[in-house]
Amino acid sequence: MSADQIPLPPPYRIKVVEPIAFLSPSARRDAIEAAGYNPFNLRSDQITVDLLSDSGTGATSSAQEAAAAQGDESYAGARSWFRFREEAADLTGYPYLLPVHQGRAGERVLFSSLLKPGQICVSNTHFDTTHANVEIAGGTPVDLPVAEAFDLDSTEPFKGNIDLVRLEEALAGPADVGLVLMTITNNGLGAQPVSMANLEAVRALCQRYRVPFFLDAARFAENAWLVQQREPGYQGWSPRQIATRAFQLADGCLISLKKDGLTGIGGLIGLRDDALFAQCEANLIATEGFSTYGGLSGRDLERLAVGLREVVDPLYLSSRAAQTARFARMIKDAGASIVEPAGIHALYLNAGRLLPHLSPSEFPGHSLGCQMYLDGGIRSAELGSLYLGELDESYRVVKPAPFELVRLAIPRRVYTMEHFEYVAAVLGGIAKDPERIRGYRITSAPALLRHFKVRLAPL
Ligand SMILES: Cc1ncc(COP(=O)(O)O)c(C=O)c1O
Repeated sequence: MSADQIPLPPPYRIKVVEPIAFLSPSARRDAIEAAGYNPFNLRSDQITVDLLSDSGTGATSSAQEAAAAQGDESYAGARSWFRFREEAADLTGYPYLLPVHQGRAGERVLFSSLLKPGQICVSNTHFDTTHANVEIAGGTPVDLPVAEAFDLDSTEPFKGNIDLVRLEEALAGPADVGLVLMTITNNGLGAQPVSMANLEAVRALCQRYRVPFFLDAARFAENAWLVQQREPGYQGWSPRQIATRAFQLADGCLISLKKDGLTGIGGLIGLRDDALFAQCEANLIATEGFSTYGGLSGRDLERLAVGLREVVDPLYLSSRAAQTARFARMIKDAGASIVEPAGIHALYLNAGRLLPHLSPSEFPGHSLGCQMYLDGGIRSAELGSLYLGELDESYRVVKPAPFELVRLAIPRRVYTMEHFEYVAAVLGGIAKDPERIRGYRITSAPALLRHFKVRLAPL
């Protein structure tokens, strides 16, 4: 292998570390039982490798922490806001920007101003809080992913796209469409990217039918990287140029900056329409904070201003994508299958395939997630019938989810390859003897966003 073919290591080294816990098998058993077999109820000091979420869980850089020391905490007109706004405006091109403390706050503010009760919001796939906030605003969320998204083994490059034929039918049909919202990358469906061609086509349709087009752009940089790698015509573009082009195509955006903002907290609403901006701003001031901080501290805004630059660095994105790709190979070598092709922020295990002896009503994804905790202290998130299935009043599954998946989310700049080797080894142990794994039943569950607070017991 010549020197220029050798894969590069991550473009950073570790300066500050945080200890992680190694509980005994019996302590893990007690912990998960006390948590009602819901990983959201575990304490972080009961976990060895935490792959529950990539949201707000990344490591910040020394440059971000140095900037944070400059944080201006003035109630109004803080320097930190103007620094952040300049970066965000340069990246997105939107003339109107509002800070929010996280993505879902932006969803609430935007939908309550833009959506009228009875309208529908059409998306490639709504994220769970997005889905809930559309409903809270009196709207109906409608997901129209492309058919390839439902073939988990297909290696089509842009399985995050929206189905353009069905989108046009929805826009031309009798329902009143309040907005079209494209989630990049598509977190609800396997972290799959959306192509620029698809975004361009959505824009053209939205213009023809005069419907606002928004991006839910939590992973705008990772989507841009996958476009550069996979979409013909973009190889000469930088990830930043691709991201900016995506923002340009839309009328506005919602961004949870806890992902590609490379910070623990933060969010953003970007708009072109001044009347909508005025409405959102009033709502923001009443519920989040004044429009130059929106629930964030000056220190957060400073970290974000630096994070928005660091996240589009091609060296960073290429090393993050390579880390996920290597983790995917290790998992497959260990005998488990994942949703193909691997994206960047998470891998999705096909629990239905690994545990065919469990029916959807025994929650195979949840069983696999619990077993990974019991065997190795690994925390993950179920994305199957527990999360998406329809249940009756006694919590019996009346309509299963289309797939039984487990999401292994990958925090940014946090874990080393040894952590991923460990996770793959634990999964390998499960894959050797899957029959030993039992199912679960629900003992209590809330009506909205069930997976966060549900409690279960082993069957
Ligand atoms: C695609 C997408 N949209 C919105 C959100 C909500 O963002 P937040 O968790 O910052 O409220 C998330 C969070 O994971 C997400 O992945």
